[in-house]
Formats: sequence, structure tokens, C-alpha cells
Amino acid sequence: MKRIGILISGRGSNCEAIAKNVLAGNIPGAEIAAVIANRTSAAGLDIARGMGLEAIALPSRGLDREAYDAQLIGELNARNVDLVCLAGYMRLLSASFIRAFPMRILNIHPSLLPAFPGLDAQHQAFDYGVKISGCTVHFVDEHLDHGPIILQAPVPVLMGDTADTLSSRILLEEHKIYSEAIRIVISGRYRIEGRTVILEG
Ligand code: GRF
Repeated sequence: MKRIGILISGRGSNCEAIAKNVLAGNIPGAEIAAVIANRTSAAGLDIARGMGLEAIALPSRGLDREAYDAQLIGELNARNVDLVCLAGYMRLLSASFIRAFPMRILNIHPSLLPAFPGLDAQHQAFDYGVKISGCTVHFVDEHLDHGPIILQAPVPVLMGDTADTLSSRILLEEHKIYSEAIRIVISGRYRIEGRTVILEG
């Protein structure tokens, strides 16, 4: 079994979608080791508890990045986590954290990277006037929203859309492709050439 640690900061809808798929057996060989939030108020913690998962609040406020990430690495290693999934985790990771889980950290971002990295990607895309946006699941490297792309889903901008209606439709796709990307990574049926993830089989 590959043990997944999910890191969140807030609502936790991606975490919930992943956990549902894992619990339903839709991601063969995966189990959820823990859900960890850097904010005690993260709504996703209650959702995770409600699903019978271990949900841990590990507040980051006031701690510098290295000190906090060392705690986080400790919690994840104590639970033998193989794969770290960032799901609305609103904190940059230190280089030490990334080194502790090399090519074993995934992130979901609500735009078609490399367009619109950073905060409020859906609003950035909407305000820019794009006709197609979407979402991206990628490996995490030392740069923000940057590592090799595993999967992307396009979402067209429709007449009458607002940034919020667009965000909601992107979120539906996020919930699908994150689990699918985890399935691919856990199956091991991929290789990486340069920054291209080549899916096998
Ligand atoms: C999602 O839009 C995700 O792409 C971004 O943060 C948001 C988290 O939402 N990284 P949720 O907490 O998973 O509901």
C-alpha cells in the first residue's frame, strides 16, 4: 500500500474528493495516512474526521518555514507517508521539505499552467479574458506551481460567466483529475523526460 498524506489549509473539497475515491477503492494500492492542516480553522479537517480519517491541525502561524516544515516532515514520516498531496495548501514549501519527498509531492492548481501561477488563478484568468482555462496536477519542485505536469483539464469560459461560476466549473474538473493523477503516480506507469511526464500503458 502507498500511504498518502494530504496537506490542506481550508475548505478541503479536493481532499474530500481524493479520500472518497481512495475509500471507494478507485485508486488501487492507495490509503490515506493522514490529513494535516496548517490552520486549526480549516473546514477540511472536520470533513476528514467525518470520513474516519486521521485529521491533524498543525498550526504554522508564527513559525518560520524551516521550523514548520521540519515538524511537518516529522508528522508525515511518523505515519510512513509515501506520497504528499497538496490540496489547497496555502504555504510555500521549503527546499528541505521538497528534498525529503523527491518527486513524491503533487499539487493541484486551478489554471492551465504555465498560465496564471500563484494566488487566485481563476480570477487572474477570467480578468485576462481567456476563452479556455482549466486545472493542472503537477509534481512539486522548488519553484511555485512549476514542476512536471501529470494531467490537465480544459474548462471553457462561457458567456455570462463570472470568476465565481468559472471557478466552480474548474473545481468539478479538479475533483476528477487529482484522483486520476494520483492513480497514475501510484501505479508507477509513467516516466519523466526533461519536464515531460510520459504516461505508459
Ligand atoms: C483549489 O482551487 C485548488 O486548485 C487550489 O486551492 C483550492 C482549494 O480548494 N490550490 P479546496 O480546499 O480543495 O476546496
